[in-house]
Amino acid sequence: LRFVCASNDGIDEHMVWLIGLKNIFARQLPNMPREYIVRLVMDRNHKSVMVVRRNLVVGGITYRPYLSQKFGEIAFCAITADEQVKGYGTRLMNHLKQHARDVDGLTHFLTYADNNAVGYFVKQGFTKEIYLERDRWHGYIKDYDGGILMECRIDPKLPFTD
Ligand code: ACO
Repeated sequence: LRFVCASNDGIDEHMVWLIGLKNIFARQLPNMPREYIVRLVMDRNHKSVMVVRRNLVVGGITYRPYLSQKFGEIAFCAITADEQVKGYGTRLMNHLKQHARDVDGLTHFLTYADNNAVGYFVKQGFTKEIYLERDRWHGYIKDYDGGILMECRIDPKLPFTD
């Protein structure tokens, strides 16, 4: 099992994984328009941290780092149906936090969580209270009425992965 971070950089292997991830999102997030998923997963401002097993993607998180604001917006998060509730979602989030802190220099994540995923995000350290100063995120993330805005502060020192 591997955790890899990639974006639309033209590397064949990355493209195959991103397409696999886009298909998982389309299936697991049926309320999201497919074209919107494709657009963000393939957008060069977005990155994806993926769970890869036997060279196949089994899930991932697509996010947009706002480097000047030091926060990231999680756009999509899913694990393929047969592999849910095995702990991959938690390990995935930990790899995302480590990468976002150590490579992007981010301090926080924001996401619009689907109602049924709030429990998962709470377990990953997200809160419905937004502590991040409004100036740092307002105008950067788009309002979206299909979910609940949640925040996670990334611990500056904690090792998230082994
Ligand atoms: N509601 C409440 N708790 C949950 C949920 C949920 N929907 N999903 C998982 N959990 C809990 C698990 O029971 C587990 O608890 P435990 O640590 O006490 O045992 C913990 O969260 C972590 O479970 P994992 O096995 O690590 O999670 P999993 O690999 O199943 O991934 C995920 C979680 C990504 C939510 C997955 O179930 C999934 O793909 N769901 C469908 C798509 C979805 O809802 N995605 C999020 C939409 S919001 C967005 O994308 C911004």
